[in-house]
Amino acid sequence: MIKVTGLVKRFGGTAVLDGIDLAIEQGEIIVVIGPSGTGKSTLLRCLNFLERPDAGRLTIGDLDVDVTRASRADILTARRRTAFVFQNYALFANKTALENIAEGLIVVNRWPKEKAHARAREILERIGLADKADAYPASLSGGQQQRVGIGRAMAAQAEVILFDEPTSSLDPEWVEEVLNLMKQLARERQTMLVVTHEMSFARDVADRVIFMEGGESSNRGPRPALQLTTGSPDTRFPAQGSGNPGNNRHPDLSRMPVRAIAVERTGD
Ligand SMILES: Nc1ncnc2c1ncn2[C@@H]1O[C@H](COP(=O)(O)OP(=O)(O)OP(=O)(O)O)[C@@H](O)[C@H]1O
Ligand SMILES: [Mg+2]
Repeated sequence: MIKVTGLVKRFGGTAVLDGIDLAIEQGEIIVVIGPSGTGKSTLLRCLNFLERPDAGRLTIGDLDVDVTRASRADILTARRRTAFVFQNYALFANKTALENIAEGLIVVNRWPKEKAHARAREILERIGLADKADAYPASLSGGQQQRVGIGRAMAAQAEVILFDEPTSSLDPEWVEEVLNLMKQLARERQTMLVVTHEMSFARDVADRVIFMEGGESSNRGPRPALQLTTGSPDTRFPAQGSGNPGNNRHPDLSRMPVRAIAVERTGD
């Protein structure tokens, strides 16, 4: 299980995340949605210390640390247990698909090259790119590159894969193959935290949807601090037109067979 409590991240005095509590069960698929600037990427980045949080506690398996006191070793452990899939793939241009997938195993996990390459070949099979092992990113389509990006995350065998808008830089024609691979992982109950605008993906595979709101759109002075609160497992979003203003703002959510997480605005 992955758990954060009281997660705070400030940029220049403004709290982008202000006391986030979130627990992710093994095998759970959580989708995070919300307008630009509300801290979705920051949340993911704090979970593997790509950003250093200002307060909070992070638990991943037997790692349990106050994030402000995390040692180098703690941070490495957190990174090994969380794999990141970036919007822009972030592949090494001078390495083949196979080498891109094997790289983390060699550098981070210190696997011998042969073993890492063997694992990378297995992953290439699973992502349907066995024939592209020796291809460099520039010769792959956007969809293929992102599948390699996901393959690299799969190879890491992390507790959770963090996806930050994995399809939003793709030409529309490549979106589906990437979503299909993510759905395959979801069926295998790979624990995933996915920031995406793909509402149909959220509807089809999410166990829970987190909605982050506030931020830039607020013109009432300082940004309202955000807090996620977990609804009861049986909560359903009310039917459309029920008079719930939140529902009218986000009509797509009303049709989702998900367990709800409500977002409370505090400090407003
Ligand atoms: N390194 C940084 N330095 C200063 N401010 C930052 C930094 N990273 C993010 N921010 C600010 O924090 C807020 C949240 O940013 P974040 O990228 O997490 O939002 P987001 O929800 O992922 O947005 P988007 O949907 O556009 O990706 C924004 O106001 C952003 O400008
Ligand atoms: Mg973002």
